[in-house]
Amino acid sequence: MDVRRKFEAMEFGPAPESARPALDWLDGHGREFGHIIGGIAHAGNGPAFPTANPATGEQLASIAQGTPDDVDRAVAAAREAQPEWERAGGAARARHLYALSRAVQRNSRLFAVLETLDNGKPVRESRDIDIPLVARHLLFHAGAAKLIESEFPGHDAVGVCGQIIPWNFPLLMLAWKVAPALAAGNTVVLKPAEYTSLTALLFAEIAEEAGLPPGVLNIVTGDGRTGEALVNHAGVDKIAFTGSTAVGRRIREATAGSGKALTLELGGKSPFVVFEDADLDSAVEGLVDAIWFNQGQVCCAGSRLLVQESVAARFHEKTRRRMDKLRVGDPLDKSIDVGAIVDPVQLDAIACMVDSGVQAGNEVYRASVRMPETGCFYPPTLVTGASPSSPLMQDEIFGPVLVGSTFRTPAEAIELANNTRYGLAASVWTENINLALDIAPKIVCGVVWVNATNLFDAAAGFGGRRESGFGREGGWEGLRHYLKRKHPAKGGSANRRAAERRKARPTSSAIAVDRTAKLYIGGKQVRPDSGYATTELGAGGEAVGQAARGNRKDIRNAVEAAQAAAGRWRASTGHLRSQIIYFIAENLSIRAAEFGAGIAERTGCSEAEGRAEVDAAVDRLFTYGAWADKFDGSVHGVPIRGVVLAMNEPLGVIGAICPETRPLLGAVSLMAPIIAAGNACVLVPSESSPLSATDFYQVLETSDLPPGVVNIVTGPHEELAGTLAGHDDVDALWSFGSAALRGPVEKASAGNLKPTWAECGDDQDWMDPADGEGRAFMQNATHVKNVWIPYGE
Ligand code: NAI
Repeated sequence: MDVRRKFEAMEFGPAPESARPALDWLDGHGREFGHIIGGIAHAGNGPAFPTANPATGEQLASIAQGTPDDVDRAVAAAREAQPEWERAGGAARARHLYALSRAVQRNSRLFAVLETLDNGKPVRESRDIDIPLVARHLLFHAGAAKLIESEFPGHDAVGVCGQIIPWNFPLLMLAWKVAPALAAGNTVVLKPAEYTSLTALLFAEIAEEAGLPPGVLNIVTGDGRTGEALVNHAGVDKIAFTGSTAVGRRIREATAGSGKALTLELGGKSPFVVFEDADLDSAVEGLVDAIWFNQGQVCCAGSRLLVQESVAARFHEKTRRRMDKLRVGDPLDKSIDVGAIVDPVQLDAIACMVDSGVQAGNEVYRASVRMPETGCFYPPTLVTGASPSSPLMQDEIFGPVLVGSTFRTPAEAIELANNTRYGLAASVWTENINLALDIAPKIVCGVVWVNATNLFDAAAGFGGRRESGFGREGGWEGLRHYLKRKHPAKGGSANRRAAERRKARPTSSAIAVDRTAKLYIGGKQVRPDSGYATTELGAGGEAVGQAARGNRKDIRNAVEAAQAAAGRWRASTGHLRSQIIYFIAENLSIRAAEFGAGIAERTGCSEAEGRAEVDAAVDRLFTYGAWADKFDGSVHGVPIRGVVLAMNEPLGVIGAICPETRPLLGAVSLMAPIIAAGNACVLVPSESSPLSATDFYQVLETSDLPPGVVNIVTGPHEELAGTLAGHDDVDALWSFGSAALRGPVEKASAGNLKPTWAECGDDQDWMDPADGEGRAFMQNATHVKNVWIPYGE
């Protein structure tokens, strides 16, 4: 036999990893696990449930089902530990996180094997990807803790964080959530997924040995009911969730109005876009990582293959040939590519979806590979011929199933890539860097990999848009979500004084007035749909004018105008935006005396106070004129040969409910950062004092602002905020009206899962730049897109 024939005939021999150390650890616990609360293992009050090895069906251990009482005890332990943990300071927390990282490294084999036994993923992946990334995350955040006080002045920890994680990357998701929370001075109650609790319990044990103070990290196991108890617990300050969009939406609704902060990392249907000039062989290898890594049970899996028509047949053929070479089988075998699906329930769901594709007449290719006879396995599969609207193209399959389609032009590729309700990640393959970097900002998502896929690192944020959720995990941008802004001690006392003054005004019958301000939509003053107006009363209770009473139809028109303007405004340069904002400031300043007198007349403050509000508004415009061309992104230092561009992208159309007091300054304080960041907006001015904002139309009209970038609809906050929050073409909502709006706004936002920023506007001291302006406003007007660009020959 010559060398070549010998080489071709060579078979992989089995390379089994021993399960013994992990089984010994399970035996050491009598194969029964309770919760870890306050550093102590508790049996739990509820019944237990089994956790099994999906590759064999064999039961591994029995896990406690957490009850509301268990959750209550865990939250109490976290609450008790929190102040001291925060007071200990960033340097002390850094040492703990460093110790945890080292402890994970020391126990990395045990973790990898236990993860593979419990989840079914190939040990090659748990050993080489999951566990090293866990250690990396802890180490990165040790550093973040050390720098936190200097990098985030004026911020506190959020408090007690409830964290709920899925089963696809059990320990990695724990690290993604626990590391930033602890770095920032929070304490945690974490609920692992019911299929995969074991590595979280091992981690908590090792954390205790590494000296983590009791109560800082608590683990309560159980299913969705336990998760629900954690979400609803009044003692929790923030929920961080990764899992399905359906559950994420329920959590958004459940936490609405509770004051809990929320970040959601949900599903995806990420496009894998192959242009005709791509290195097709590399792209095929990329595809293996995109959809067959972790059996395709990856939120950002490249599950939608979009190939340029001219190379599609060739690429599909190459893919099929590569699929036939994948090895499916025992996850503990080190030369296995595709392991077991996490549970029979998930296996059935995958099979069901693929069968529906067969029935719909799609071409379904199953890899011709040897399949294990028992256990939870599904063959690598390629479906072609599905229409863009078919469920296989639109819904998350969460299994080793790739669904392919074709495109002709780059414009069509973008359209197809964005033809999804999700927006998590995208992978773009082309040898033309111009094309890649032109496409990357146009795909609506949080992460883009250029000629690569499924790259992760603690220094680069990860997270999505639209129904893939909001918030980021990793990097500086992720850490922010575990901190809250301190309001200066004087708070909104000035606002409260103004509100009291207005409450004390006598009411009088409306005096006939001849001024009725219209709405401002698409750059034009338009009459309200309702035909009604509301009278604004002056300081002495006299009518000072009327403002149009906008309704849902007006909001819809304003959103349409904003959407029409958003694309060009977003594509405009920061230089142009800053010039326009300075011009608005200049035009307002020319009319400062008149605006000041108007504020005095309407709110009962002195003319000097009115004038001070206008001056502050001019100053605020200058602040955001300054930011418009300076809110730079960054380049993250990730351990690859290449760069990760972290780009601050506008969100699109933002609805903004303005504060009740400070009628001009409040509106300007929201409008200016929104448009500086490249968004269009629909502003709803102060309900009781809208006329200062409507006078402002004339300033906007004379300042070269393109029509539709700012739209202003006056009227009742409750109705208009609800309409904006529920509108699918509104990409984010800021509510700075009354505190009572927070609940309805957050609840209505669950429809398209838009990010919301809801605070009581009257608690802010808008006159104080430390409270009323700054980075937080720019950050809430943008999201960070991380574009990974490996380079080198
Ligand atoms: P899931 O969303 O039900 O579970 C994720 C976590 O949420 C688990 O810890 C679960 O116990 C918990 N949970 C469930 N209901 C809850 C509730 N009402 N309140 C609070 N916590 C709750 O996901 P599941 O059922 O495990 O998988 C179903 C589908 O979800 C998958 O087929 C996949 O499409 C998607 N999924 C997406 C993930 C991602 O990373 N984006 C991860 C896991 C699942």
